Amino acid sequence: MRQHEKHSMGGAAVAEMPNEHLHEPFVEGLKDMYDAEKRLVKAIPKLVKAASCESLKQGLSKHLKETAGHVNRLEKVFQSIGETAKTKTCPAMKGLVEEGADATNEDDERSRDAAIIAAAQKVEHYEIASYGTLRTWAEAMGHNEAADLLEETLNEEKAADKKLTEIAKTECNKAESGEFEVSEESEESEDSDEEETEEEQ
Ligand SMILES: [Fe+2]
Repeated sequence: MRQHEKHSMGGAAVAEMPNEHLHEPFVEGLKDMYDAEKRLVKAIPKLVKAASCESLKQGLSKHLKETAGHVNRLEKVFQSIGETAKTKTCPAMKGLVEEGADATNEDDERSRDAAIIAAAQKVEHYEIASYGTLRTWAEAMGHNEAADLLEETLNEEKAADKKLTEIAKTECNKAESGEFEVSEESEESEDSDEEETEEEQ
């Protein structure tokens, strides 16, 4: 039982916590995301300012508000497991934010919007991967409140990613014809699994 005594939740022993080996990586992961979300609160306004397409500006502004909510939600997650909310530098988000800053330096408006969307989607995918893992670990340890909070944020990140894809395809990345051009090759690749199966037969 000695190893269980290492962790206390608001003074209460957590002798019955399953999968205790996940506790340390879970708390480290929360600190990583707490740092990442705080970096995004500072970085997203710069992307909004640099974006030209109105729906991209609006989409990013909406996600900025959600991101501020993600910071608060992480504080609730820390609280729910009796830990103090602390940041630990997230090198990945630091790099992704730098890529976003590079995107804002594109001279051509449409190139810049496309590069901003790409950078923002890389951010969302990092967040989706991180929150997915943290939610699953929270469930595995029986931290149900933490799992629910993390799932809420995970869903908002997924929705933001989906919205960015829509913006890219239909609104801000239009070809001169008014349609987003998808080459025949990439359309085919969406069905590649089926085609490969057919070829195998
Ligand atoms: Fe977020």
